[in-house]
Amino acid sequence: MPMLEQVLYSGYIAQGEVVDKFEEQFSQYIGVGNSLSLNSGTAALHIALILAGVNAGDEVVSTALTAEPTNVSIKMIGAKIRYADIDFETGNISPASIEEQINDRTRAIVVVDYAGVPVHVDSIASIGNKHGLPVIHDAAHSLGSLYNGKRSGSHFPFTVFSLQAIKHITTVDGGILQIQDDGLYEKGKLIRWFGIDKKKPRLENDIGLQGYKYHMNNVNATIGLAQLEHVESIVDSHMSNGRYFDEALKNIAGLERLDYYPGSIPSYWLYTLKVENRAGFIAKLAENGINASELHKRNDQHSYLNDFNQQLPVLDRFYSKLVHIPCGWWVSEEDREIITQTIRSGW
Ligand SMILES: Cc1ncc(COP(=O)(O)O)c(C=O)c1O
Repeated sequence: MPMLEQVLYSGYIAQGEVVDKFEEQFSQYIGVGNSLSLNSGTAALHIALILAGVNAGDEVVSTALTAEPTNVSIKMIGAKIRYADIDFETGNISPASIEEQINDRTRAIVVVDYAGVPVHVDSIASIGNKHGLPVIHDAAHSLGSLYNGKRSGSHFPFTVFSLQAIKHITTVDGGILQIQDDGLYEKGKLIRWFGIDKKKPRLENDIGLQGYKYHMNNVNATIGLAQLEHVESIVDSHMSNGRYFDEALKNIAGLERLDYYPGSIPSYWLYTLKVENRAGFIAKLAENGINASELHKRNDQHSYLNDFNQQLPVLDRFYSKLVHIPCGWWVSEEDREIITQTIRSGW
């Protein structure tokens, strides 16, 4: 019987052994730390911030170039978002700018591998250590990416993965918080389920902290297990398309490719470019049936996510040119050639 049918008819569709198995296998894929499965990446961000000790009124240094959940989760805590600027070459949070934004109220640093491009792990880790600040790595876009030969999920105390429908692998909706510290992992388990310790009988429980209903169930975990069987080939397809574009889109007037930090290998969730006349570029690709877009609104342009009305001059320059082209596993060798030829023919 197919795995999904089996679990649906098993009578055990809630969180159970299948979830445990999915967590074990996800952990093996990452290589180090504990995988806390959740019903979204946003839940993973929320729990990471709690475990990092962020409280209402604290500040968190973050990036504005990301999907909204990265920063909405900071507001869920009641904390304030202090944006660092980005590096123009990568689109990722600038380590130098992080350091400029740290003050007495800062409690954590949130960094994002935007579009699958790894952040400058070494510099960010040393800034975290120097200031005694936990780093939360939002790797929702970068499953399978590498930095100094290690996968995302290995570098910082907390790493967030999203398993939402359009990510490298999916559980339809879901997320993983990869936690390095065993004690914090145990605390994370309590927070994900009302503060109740599932290992103890219900009547012996005494809730001692604020918990939520954030767990994954056996149905979603079954989909995750099926997806995990293919994770290497899915990530390889993204990487192969990304590397192809890295070469094929060299030396085109009006177009700049990203650079990557030394020792980093992106997992190319999207392929990001900086182009002149972005509207013309998007229109030209659309005429040829290719879906290019800016995708994300820079988060400081949402009034609720703009606590300090900061100047972000590098992001201004980057964002005016930012565009993504498709490069996922569904983009065939023929597709990527057509995309390249269309771009090379001008816009
Ligand atoms: C950068 C980033 N962080 C966090 C999330 C949140 O993940 P989820 O949709 O699983 O809650 C997303 C998802 O879109 C994302 O793109």
